[in-house]
Order: sequence, then C-alpha cells, then structure tokens
Amino acid sequence: MKTRSLGKTLNVSEIGMGCMGFSHGYGEIPNQDYAIDAIRAAYDCGCTFFDTAERYGPYLLPENIGHNERIVGKALKPFRKDVVLATKLHIATDEPKQDGSVYNTLRRHVEASMDRLGTDYIDLYYLHRVNPDIPVEDIAQGMGRLIDEGIIRGWGLSMVNVEYLKRVQDIAPVSAVQNIYSMMDRAYEKGVIPYCLEHNIGFVAFSPIASGYLSGKVNPDQKFEGDDVRQWVPQLKKENMEANKPLLELLSRISSAKGITNAQLSLAWMLHKYPNVVPIPGSKNKERILENLGASQVELTDSEFASLEDALANITIHGQRKDLGSRTEFIDD
Ligand SMILES: NC(=O)c1ccc[n+]([C@@H]2O[C@H](COP(=O)([O-])OP(=O)(O)OC[C@H]3O[C@@H](n4cnc5c(N)ncnc54)[C@H](OP(=O)(O)O)[C@@H]3O)[C@@H](O)[C@H]2O)c1
Repeated sequence: MKTRSLGKTLNVSEIGMGCMGFSHGYGEIPNQDYAIDAIRAAYDCGCTFFDTAERYGPYLLPENIGHNERIVGKALKPFRKDVVLATKLHIATDEPKQDGSVYNTLRRHVEASMDRLGTDYIDLYYLHRVNPDIPVEDIAQGMGRLIDEGIIRGWGLSMVNVEYLKRVQDIAPVSAVQNIYSMMDRAYEKGVIPYCLEHNIGFVAFSPIASGYLSGKVNPDQKFEGDDVRQWVPQLKKENMEANKPLLELLSRISSAKGITNAQLSLAWMLHKYPNVVPIPGSKNKERILENLGASQVELTDSEFASLEDALANITIHGQRKDLGSRTEFIDD
C-alpha cells in the first residue's frame, strides 16, 4: 500500500484502520478472536496504521477503559515494530492538580495505555478532546517532554480548529490532527486542512464513510440502540437519509461505472483531494475492512475528480454531524 507522512517522523499506510467498533459505538461487538483476526488481516493487506483510544470500551464506562487497547495490542503484538500505533487520552479538569502537573497526568495515562497495549512506546498520542480548563499549551509542553523521553514518537489533537493548532505549534509541533471528515462533513476544508498542509501536519479523517451512510448499505429502518452512536448521527435520521439520496445516487453512478464500491469511492476521493489526508474507516467486518483498504488501488482521473467535485458542490447535505461530543465550537474556522 502507498504511504503518507504524518509530521516529520511518522510514515503510515495511506488508509488506516479505526478499531473503535470492536469495543464501542457500532452495535454488538464481535468476539475478541474475530477482532484480532480482522486486525491481522488488515495488516496482511498492507495497513500499517491502527487507531484506538483508552476510552473505547462498551458504553464508554470507566470500568471498560482499555477494552479496545487490549484487543489492538494483542492483535499487533507479532508485528508491533512494523506498525504505527495511535491511541488517545482524555484529561478531566481535576487530574493535573491531583497528579502534581499536566505532565504527570499525561505520563500516568500513557503508561496505562502502554501496559494495556503491551508496548513500551506509542507512535502517535492524541489528546482526544481539548479540555478548555486545561491550557492546551501545557498539554503541548508535556507531550514534547514525552517525545524527548522516547515514550511517544509524535502527538496530536482531535476535533480542533486552527486556533488551537496555532497555540501549540511553537511549543511542540503536532504530527497529526484527527477530525471528522467525509463528503458529508467538509467544514475543515476551509481552515484546518489548508493549515495542516502548510505546516506539514497529517490530517487523519475519522468517520470517513459518514458512519456508514456513504456506503449505501445502511437500512433506513434499522433501529440503533445501546451505545450505538448511529442513533445520534443526524445523517442517519430517516428523513435525512431520504433527503441525502442525491448524494448516494451520484456515488453509485460513478462507482458502478468504475467497478468499485461507494465506500471505496468516498475514500479514494479524499486521498485524491489532499496529499496529507489519511482516512481511518472503521468496520467490525473483515470483508469490509479489506474492501476499504482496497480504495488505495482506486485511481480517479483528474476529470473524474473534477466532475465529482462539481457535483458535490451542487448537492445540499442534510444533517451536518459536527461533533457528537457537542463541542461544536471546535468546528468553526
Ligand atoms: N477522534 C475521535 O473523536 C473519533 C470519533 C469517532 C471515531 N474515531 C475513530 O475513527 C474510526 C472510524 O470512524 P467511524 O467508525 O465512526 O466511521 P466510518 O468508517 O465512517 O463508519 C463506520 C460504520 O460504517 C460501516 N462501514 C464501514 N465500511 C463499510 C463498507 N465498506 N460498507 C458498508 N458499511 C461500512 C461500519 O459497519 P460495519 O462495522 O458493520 O462494517 C460502521 O457502521 C473509529 O474506528 C475510531 O478509531 C475517532
């Protein structure tokens, strides 16, 4: 698989793998052996970039912290040194006070993650969400120190705007930003992606298939329950799915002419559009994981891409997703 750079130090397959669904967010979770086998199949198919988070566990409950990291760590163990492993942390407001400093809090979290992942370093360590009560500059300083100590190879921020990036770049430059991005969520095209391009920052696109909508395989009558995030994704509301049909029709027209799937087209589109974008589609299904990685082999000609862009510019998207965590201010560039 072709590779892309995230910042100065990390080189990853141009399509990564989002592992969250094996623990949280997309309905019933498969058994651990299946998940491990699926992650290893992705590696065999050329994927070298795997995304998890300390938080990913059933219902995001505190007692389930690390559920996903344990699965991912086990799966990657035989080829740990050959992959780029990304995880994320959340910091509650009172933690740095209890630990004595922001650095101590970061250190405590990263050590717990490394323990669960069965590794002695993390390639890419993200702050999952900026906590407005903890200056992002303090986070940058602490992350810079973890890099100097060889504990992490690079750091990143998730769901941030340009303002936050400007505040940290002179302290410890980020390797990657991980924000929501798909044909249906293009707000970051205005500010964050151009800023990242200019400053050699990778842009890791989460929910690149719009939580499955763009594949055309979501059944509008399906009910999502429990900790399934799809019950809150506006694009998956029945009325929005109906209203967004012109987008699916456009994708189906092009993908069937090219003999590819809608999911592959939606990934190939962003790879063609920006050299620093790395999508991390998520699936619990081995065949679909391989299908998504196959988007790396899809070539869009410049004229195919231009006509897709023209058509997209004339399609209204109903139900912008923004941030499920309700921090919508991070989307304003
Ligand atoms: N930083 C953050 O705050 C944040 C937030 C959300 C996610 N993430 C990361 O980003 C990753 C990807 O995000 P996501 O899972 O929300 O987005 P996604 O890839 O856009 O959507 C996942 C959904 O799409 C379906 N799907 C995937 N490929 C498909 C295909 N080829 N055909 C049909 N359906 C397909 C999956 O169903 P099946 O499982 O049934 O195949 C699942 O329901 C996560 O795993 C996680 O690592 C990060």
